[in-house]
Amino acid sequence: MYLPAGVMTLDYYQQQADAFFAATVSVDMTSLYQRFLPRVSKGGHIVDAGCGSGRDSRHFAGQGYRVTAFDASPALVQKARDYTGLPVACHDFMALHCQPPADAIWACASLLHVPENELAGVLAHLATQLKTGGVLYCSFKYGRGEVERHGRRFTDMNEQGLAQWLEVLPLTIAESWQTADLRPGREQETWLNALLKKESD
Ligand SMILES: C[S@@+](CC[C@H](N)C(=O)[O-])C[C@H]1O[C@@H](n2cnc3c(N)ncnc32)[C@H](O)[C@@H]1O
Repeated sequence: MYLPAGVMTLDYYQQQADAFFAATVSVDMTSLYQRFLPRVSKGGHIVDAGCGSGRDSRHFAGQGYRVTAFDASPALVQKARDYTGLPVACHDFMALHCQPPADAIWACASLLHVPENELAGVLAHLATQLKTGGVLYCSFKYGRGEVERHGRRFTDMNEQGLAQWLEVLPLTIAESWQTADLRPGREQETWLNALLKKESD
């Protein structure tokens, strides 16, 4: 069954904000930060796109980066504001506007909720908000195609799928790798991680 873009998924985050915050805010993301941060200049501007709890925004800000954080769920935005002390914005990926373009975009487990037929457009828009030479981190549940899981819709991705999406975009895959889910008890779930580089305007 096809559900309109985002409606069901954002309802899920609205209703489950407390539980989602509690389940994700303390997950140890060190192994992912170690891949991403060396590619961002010290003190550079990082956009946390679909920031959820604000866990990663808080880490980046604590490391001296300038952070812009946003999420489409008002309930999670409030929680992320409280947790980070940052002016977390409430809007969709397509409403991001950075002037000047950001040094890096961190889209951890968030683009995975974009319907497959909208993904190229969202990636193209995010690329316009990134400086040339900047990096975009994204992660998806490993697989291919659209699925619904317990009230949220996902676009699953593998290396071939991602490469296909990027053919028409000014983004190339600098690195991609698979990881097990970092939440305790969910280690059997596989994720596709990718660091995309903006090659040109
Ligand atoms: C699985 S959570 C990941 C949250 C956080 N990045 C993390 O790693 O814990 C997905 C997040 O994406 C947000 N989201 C979903 N669709 C979005 C959209 N179209 N624009 C912005 N945020 C969106 C959700 O509200 C949710 O906070």
